[in-house]
This record gives sequence, C-alpha cells and structure tokens, in this order.
Amino acid sequence: MWKFPQKGKMHIMSIKQLMNSRFRDLQGGLFLTVTKADVGEGAGNFMKAGGDIMAWADPFFPDPAIPESVQKALHKAVDDGFAAHYSMPIGDFQLRQTLARHIGKGTGLELDPSRNILVTPGSDSGLLYAMMPFISPGDEVMVPNPSYPSNFLNGKLLGGVTVSVPLYEEDNYQFRMEEFEKRVTPKTKMVLISHPNNPTTTVFRRESIEALCDFVIKHNLILVSDQAFQDHIYDGIEFVHPATLPGMWERTVTVCSISKGIGLSGFRIGYIYADDVIMDVLYGGAVNVIGASSTLSTIGAIAAIEDESILKSHFVRLERRRRQAYESFHDIPGVRMQLPESGILSWLNISRLGTSEEVANRLMEDAKIMVNQGVPYGSQGEGYIRIVTACFARDEDAQLRFDRIRKVLLKMGEEKGIK
Ligand SMILES: Cc1ncc(COP(=O)(O)O)c(C=O)c1O
Repeated sequence: MWKFPQKGKMHIMSIKQLMNSRFRDLQGGLFLTVTKADVGEGAGNFMKAGGDIMAWADPFFPDPAIPESVQKALHKAVDDGFAAHYSMPIGDFQLRQTLARHIGKGTGLELDPSRNILVTPGSDSGLLYAMMPFISPGDEVMVPNPSYPSNFLNGKLLGGVTVSVPLYEEDNYQFRMEEFEKRVTPKTKMVLISHPNNPTTTVFRRESIEALCDFVIKHNLILVSDQAFQDHIYDGIEFVHPATLPGMWERTVTVCSISKGIGLSGFRIGYIYADDVIMDVLYGGAVNVIGASSTLSTIGAIAAIEDESILKSHFVRLERRRRQAYESFHDIPGVRMQLPESGILSWLNISRLGTSEEVANRLMEDAKIMVNQGVPYGSQGEGYIRIVTACFARDEDAQLRFDRIRKVLLKMGEEKGIK
C-alpha cells in the first residue's frame, strides 16, 4: 500500500529551496504552530472543541444569516438549473449593471458596467489582482500600519517591497503625511489603504484623504483603496471616496465586497472598479488569474444588492452592537478603546495587561474565545487585540461572550494590580 514519504527537516528545506523566495516563508500551520486565526486548521479545531471564534470579520458568524429575499433568489436559481454554468470571467453582466447602479448611488460616479467593473471571488483575490499589473520586482508599496494583514503580504508576493507607514492612536489613526513623505523613494509605485481601516475602524477624514491623494498625484503613484468596510459608517462621519477626488479617477483602483456590510462573506463576491485603461488589463488577465465567480453566488449577490432593506437593517443591528461592545469593554481597568467609527470590530489597547499574544492566548484558554492578536496588523498592533463584535445573530448571544471576555480582562488587570 502507498504511504506518504517520511519528511525530515532536510527534505522540507530542499523542496523549499525550489520555491520562489516570496512564497517560501508562508505557513499554513502544517509544520509549525501558527497563531493567525485565518490559517490552517487551528480555528476549525478550536470550534470543534467548543470554542467561539470572534476573529473572523464576518457579521453574525456562525448563525444563519441569508436574508429571505436572497434565499428566494437562490432557490429559484437552483430550480431553473442555470447556476450549473459559468459566469463570464469578468463577472455576470446583470451583476455588473446592479453594481454600477449601487456604486453610483454611493459615489455619484457613472460607471460603464462593460468598461469599469470587474467581479472577483471575494475582495481578497481582488486586492492582489488589483496590484498585479503595477508591481514589478523591487517596487515599493506604502501601507499604513496598522492595517489589514494581507496588505503587508501582497506586495511581497508580487516581488515588491512593503513599506509600512505608522499611524498613531493619539492621532485617532489618521494619516501623518510627514511619515509618508519621509519614506517615499524613486521606487515607490503604490499606496494601499483599507478605508475604513481594519483593525482600527478608522474612517479617514476628508483632510487625511485629500492630503494622501495630493501625495499620490505629486509622486505619480497608484492608489489601491480597499473599501471592504465602507457600508457601515457611524455617527454621520463623512465617507470620502478617493476615486472621486480631482485627478484621482485615473490612478485609483477601488476594491469592494459584499462580505462585510451586506454580510454574505460565504458567497465570495467582491468587485473592483477603475478607469478603463486599468480595467482593460484586468479584463485581459481575468481568466488566468481569478477564473470566474460562482454563478449561484452571483444570483444571490444581485438579489442582496437590489434589496436595499438588507443594508439598512444590518446598519441598525451592527450600530447597536458596536455600542454594546463599547459598553462591555471600554471601562475595564488597563484597557483603552475608542468607540468604533465603522463596521463590526473593536480594537482594544491591552498593553497594560500583557502582549497581544499573551492576552489573546489567555482569552482562548480562560474564556474559550478566539480573538485576533494585534501583531499581524503590523508592528503598531503590538499591545492590542481585535474582537469581531458582530459575531452571533442575537445581541444576547454576543453579550454572553462579551461578558466572558470582560471577566478574563478584569482578572488580568487585578493580577497586575491595575485599578
Ligand atoms: C479590510 C479587508 N479587506 C478585504 C477583506 C477580504 O474580504 P472578502 O475576500 O471576503 O471580500 C477583508 C476580510 O476580512 C478585510 O478585512
């Protein structure tokens, strides 16, 4: 009977030597312990053992969350049978039309669904693909720190160099342009932002976005704007779309998703919009790089975007939830947090209680809850944890978990003598 060959360290090293050095250090958790919640079997095993995951930015996870209108569309699509077939590699035309209308309402842009929009299987693949035409080996990509972990890795995967640009809690995590200016070089090609930012929930204010766009134009750069969290902005804060600012349309690639605001992460539908000079290239490589999105999910996505009551009702639920989370965590001795400005996350400064690894591990052990350590979000994430507070459909179920987290953090504060 065939058996897997024994793999010693030497064997692993020799195969890894054959790999592209950009990929060699990636770890899926098979040979080493990895602590990132989105890697390998770790999170799955934790759930099987009865733990709760509050580390995936996925509204209402793990409870049923497909709205009724979307369920109907999906059932009909299965009955019709067409979902057995491919969607167009650049995305189904009807979905691109629906997206053009949707984007137009939010931004005032009048997009041509056949020239400006590409559907991707989620925005993660869209983000890497948006960067591919621009990044040659050695090119530098500026990424605010903290930021979404993939933003630091994508440049490297393409042979580029990620240049991290610090943001500061005392600035409410807005851009400090001098930090960009002092890092720009002739090799700088791109700025990549998540707006609103993950993990901090920051909505970059008009002054910040305008200053960043001036910088991008002055240095002849491309801006990739990851707007996965754009749908739920609280307290009437203005959301400025960089692509709409003077001189920016031609050099901005905007990447969005139905995963967060609309809450359909499992459908794996994202979309990119950009000027046709950029889009022509992205259309040209679509088959090779991203394949096509799922036809069934496409039909679900059209129904979800057209039923505007979904975004509206999610906004009310998620806004309530972020307050509930704030009330549960902000006054814990040794913890500091701002009221989230957007989305579904809480970002806690726990540096007086321990490192982000110590605190996250303690929550896994004592509260049986997996949250995110701050460090994968960049060096500025040390001393912080991220909690996905939109998990669970019912506020009461979320509160039970918030109470468990609170209890452990209170205990850690007591142990340190913090009052
Ligand atoms: C800031 C940000 N951008 C993009 C993504 C990718 O989401 P998706 O691939 O589900 O669209 C995520 C997922 O967590 C995210 O947090």
